[in-house]
Amino acid sequence: MAVSVPDGSRTDGGRILGRMKDDILIDLVRSAWIIERARASVYEGWAGHDSRFEASGERALKRASIIERSLESRGRSADESFIEPHANWIRNLVGQGPEEVPFGELFAIRLADWVDAHAGPFLDDGAGELAQINEDEKRDVPFPETLPAPPRFVPTETIALEPPGEVRFTFGILSDIHIGSPRGETMARAAVADLNASGAELVVQLGDLTDHGNEDEFARAADVVSALEMPFLTMMGNHDIFSYKEEALIGRELYQKYLGRAPDGQLLEHKGIRFAALDSAEELASPFPPFNLVTGTFMEGKGGAVVRGALTDHQHEILAEVAAPGSPPAFVFLHHPPQPFLGFPPILFGLREADSGRLHAVCDSGNVWGIFAGHTHRNTLTTRFGDIPSMEVAIPRDFPFGYALVDVTDEGYYYRFVQLSDKGLCAEAHKTVSAIHHRYGLGSPGERAFVWRRSS
Ligand SMILES: [Fe+2]
Ligand SMILES: [Fe+2]
Repeated sequence: MAVSVPDGSRTDGGRILGRMKDDILIDLVRSAWIIERARASVYEGWAGHDSRFEASGERALKRASIIERSLESRGRSADESFIEPHANWIRNLVGQGPEEVPFGELFAIRLADWVDAHAGPFLDDGAGELAQINEDEKRDVPFPETLPAPPRFVPTETIALEPPGEVRFTFGILSDIHIGSPRGETMARAAVADLNASGAELVVQLGDLTDHGNEDEFARAADVVSALEMPFLTMMGNHDIFSYKEEALIGRELYQKYLGRAPDGQLLEHKGIRFAALDSAEELASPFPPFNLVTGTFMEGKGGAVVRGALTDHQHEILAEVAAPGSPPAFVFLHHPPQPFLGFPPILFGLREADSGRLHAVCDSGNVWGIFAGHTHRNTLTTRFGDIPSMEVAIPRDFPFGYALVDVTDEGYYYRFVQLSDKGLCAEAHKTVSAIHHRYGLGSPGERAFVWRRSS
């Protein structure tokens, strides 16, 4: 059955019918181009280990050149500066050589499958050739019939650092909880119990409260966060916008009903420090069904909301308050990491570029001490605006299973990721974690803990 979505796009059994919002479409094609150029770079490195990857690199370059034609016809030049950072992201997952990580080569092909499924239908021409090149690539790749054993579970230690001065208070960051997904509620309740015992005086939850935006999930998510024994802030994520059950964009109403405020951003102050919570989820349905990166195909069912983030005028006003001269120090929280977003899919999965630029300008005011985002389910430093870090915080449900704590002093703060204390629960959840996900989620030691000091 064909399904209409509000921007005029229509989907039918995984086929995309009709058009998509223009600026998202351009970001999609840019993203596809970066992925192919980055794949080419990875294969060129692998060719030093096995010469068969020379052909793989050439195929990826050819695919990029096909995509580039559609970019140019839309008046956009290609984003060269994204290639190597995105190639490094892929290498971090699949290895410097083709044998380093189980399924590494297959994963690199799945990225191409993603490109074909998402960007292929929107190219001016060449989609058939694009797909054919990918088929040629797959011909050489053995597809495994059994999964390798997951890596052994080893608890992730919290990295202890000296806070920059006397600690005035501690706050917690609870990233996506995805109530309604397998393990979502169990892991979220374990995180809430740990946060209640942590001494945190305030907790900020980073959106994706629900998995499918359904009313029963909102009710359960509200129940989970209300078990926090300190004041807390929540925000909308892309999973909260579109109700799969109702097949409608009713998340804003449900959020207001269960979380008690209109999702247009919120600013509060605690002990002289401001906390700005932005609701960056765009109220727009995706024309795509969900995509399975394991099989490289679309899945049954609706795709929910678009994955990109955007800020409304009201949230820009909050940011203007944060940036006002003489205002107190502030932390900014939002679901979508700002640009340049180099994870997967690059650009498209992050905050809209215009809003990211605004966030950068707000950091230049000198009032912002840090930005924290969810959405990616990993520990990563997305970027720095000057010396202000923008961190992605991993989640309770997925490896490495936890939340973050921040000790605030007069001079700055000490941030650290903390794994759930129930190691039995973590070990059980870990049984389904692949080597690639392990490499994706954990983050480097510097991304799991750091100390930030204000400059003056
Ligand atoms: Fe999420
Ligand atoms: Fe998300």
